Amino acid sequence: MPGTTYRCFSCLRVVSLVPLQLATAQGYAHRVKIEPSSLQYAILRHRRSASPTSVLQAMVPEMLGLLKVKVQRGFNLAVRDFWSSDPYVIVKMGKQKLKTRVVRRNTNPVWNEELTLSVEDPNLPVRLEVFDKDTFSLDDPMGRAEFDIRMLVEAVKMKLEGLPNGTIITTVTPCRKNCLAEVSRVYWSDGEVFQDLILRLRDVERGEVELKLRWVSTQSSRDL
Ligand SMILES: *[C@@H]1O[C@H](CO)[C@@H](O)[C@H](O)[C@H]1NC(C)=O
Repeated sequence: MPGTTYRCFSCLRVVSLVPLQLATAQGYAHRVKIEPSSLQYAILRHRRSASPTSVLQAMVPEMLGLLKVKVQRGFNLAVRDFWSSDPYVIVKMGKQKLKTRVVRRNTNPVWNEELTLSVEDPNLPVRLEVFDKDTFSLDDPMGRAEFDIRMLVEAVKMKLEGLPNGTIITTVTPCRKNCLAEVSRVYWSDGEVFQDLILRLRDVERGEVELKLRWVSTQSSRDL
């Protein structure tokens, strides 16, 4: 097939132009388990700008963008030590796992901490767990929740430039399937897409956690 010939020719050309970078890229591809065919495709895509960084960037498995999860505070969390708890939050997406700091002796903690997840698959839910930090035993669970970022990602795909600051793009209402305690809004503010969430914790007697999500586009999310 003519297409195949062209493809092989392009790859060969890149190989002869950048043998060192290719070796590095193959090493990287091996570590992150990229199929040889997609390595070839990535190099093909970047044949005109085959600098080491552009080849390596092409190797990162389809990262759509960064999700900034600001863990703002907890409300009325469960008591796990005598009169209070030392709560912290774990946020997970796929294999990524991030933690906030511990706030001592407070069931209404203010963390105001921004955690960054790199999003490869926007259909994966983000899971959140709250724990009570114990020094001499295992940390006690204080509830869990999860949320979906599909509405946020849908909003990012729209052309929103030029909308008035603060425009609400979507609202998500609480239901039995989601963990929302109140209506959640996806909105446009200062040129970025945000979503505010208040999650009701499950598997625990009480407690809510307030979050603010912000989407940060990366090189590859321009193709969204
Ligand atoms: C846009 O709105 C946010 C609140 O949603 C506000 O903090 C910010 O100052 C506003 N920016 C401009 C340019 O008016």
